[in-house]
Amino acid sequence: MDAFIIDGGTPLSGEITNSGAKNVALKTFVASLLTDDAIRIHNIPRITDVFYMLEVLESIGIRSQFKDHTVDIDKRNGSSTTVPLDVGARLRTSSMVIGPMLARYGEAQIPNPGGCRIGARPIDRHIAALRSMGAHITYNSRDGFYHAKAKILHGTHVLFPKNTHTGTETIILAAVLAQGTTVIENAAQEVEVDDLIRFLVTMGAKIQRTNERTIVIEGVKKLYGTEYTIMSDRNEEVTFAIAAAVTHGDITVNKSQKTGLDAFRDAFRNAGGIADERDDDVTRYRVGKKVRPTDVVTGPHPGFMTDWQAPWAVLMTQAHGVSTIHETVFESRFSYVRELLKMGANITFFEPDVDNPQSLYNFNLSDKKRGDHQAIRIEGPRTLHNAVVVIDDLRAGATLILAALCATGESYIYGIEQVERGYENIEVRLGALGARIRRIKDEI
Ligand code: EPZ
Repeated sequence: MDAFIIDGGTPLSGEITNSGAKNVALKTFVASLLTDDAIRIHNIPRITDVFYMLEVLESIGIRSQFKDHTVDIDKRNGSSTTVPLDVGARLRTSSMVIGPMLARYGEAQIPNPGGCRIGARPIDRHIAALRSMGAHITYNSRDGFYHAKAKILHGTHVLFPKNTHTGTETIILAAVLAQGTTVIENAAQEVEVDDLIRFLVTMGAKIQRTNERTIVIEGVKKLYGTEYTIMSDRNEEVTFAIAAAVTHGDITVNKSQKTGLDAFRDAFRNAGGIADERDDDVTRYRVGKKVRPTDVVTGPHPGFMTDWQAPWAVLMTQAHGVSTIHETVFESRFSYVRELLKMGANITFFEPDVDNPQSLYNFNLSDKKRGDHQAIRIEGPRTLHNAVVVIDDLRAGATLILAALCATGESYIYGIEQVERGYENIEVRLGALGARIRRIKDEI
């Protein structure tokens, strides 16, 4: 295990190029199961989750080549319908192969999915929707696998009880080859879902978002190979914007993501940040003299994304006044607070007044455990200082890096493999902006 040492306090300035979106790349790999033709996908980030997902494909007989930022999927060697536990349990996206496998081979065995430790993260909504398409699915708690069979998958009407991003994508991936038409209501609106839809349409799928939260999929008999360039990663861009603001630097992001960042940019401007968007996919981020406090409530798109709240908390430690963050999507996404406290942040948990928790919160209320918190209050400005900290999940990792970049002294950040799940070569890219960051071998 490696660690980062960051000597904070330098303004980060210059140009940086956004990577492709992790949460689209992984799903296009799942979609490759829907055809035997060759598929070429560009703008794929070289991150651990991508390598893990390619291993999942390999484990079921699909080989790929990954050169620079292009993945070619063209060699199919059999068609196993079991994702082995050791490769599948590492990431949530592995569970999404269930749809294409059922549609093409009539069965699938998938391990209970893993992913970042940010809550219970069940897939009950996915399973209920697949059952309504004619799949017979059981969960065996002794082997930790879902066992699924379907003679045919038929079109259906799915009404998700609450927003689910990968649930929506899972049903789209099952419905494109199903018999008949599937209508998904209360479908997720995240822009990554729409990029996956565009990709599938280039394969010959018939999918339309008929209104904001309704997606209609007309099943087709066959899908074909394609070549596609995926969108930029919004979460990376947010990280760079906040890096500019907390270090009082000036960062220009190339391949800036046009859609899906309005809620972030609005909050950034309210906090005294400046985001200059240009026509040529370039956005320049910096901050005025003073960071202002904000009250942020996370939510499904078009709301302020849950993935942004942890890095946002670092910015709010620099704000002049009291800020709040209310997390409504996951029940346990404040693990980073403990580490920011070590660095001198003034953050307290509080119970927000909520009239109707069942409708506000996106997680299943029964998954909330003692010690899970939904809201924090941050008092600023605080000069953060160095500390030895440990990363718990991907976005918490970016958060601790940001905190160390604006802190005084040298911080040690352990658990950086979590950051490498979603950020390509982060220390080299931040180093090019002036960050004093280096990697060491973990000798703890
Ligand atoms: C996706 O997670 C992303 N992951 C997340 O990014 C992102 O934070 C999230 O969507 C919100 O946009 C991927 O795309 C791989 P959900 P997902 O289904 O699909 C509960 C990252 O770091 N729920 O919209 O898991 C669930 O536990 C990751 O890139 C159920 O209870 O999010 C959560 O509380 C982290 N049962 C809430 O709903 C279900 O069947 C929203 O989950 C499905 C979800």
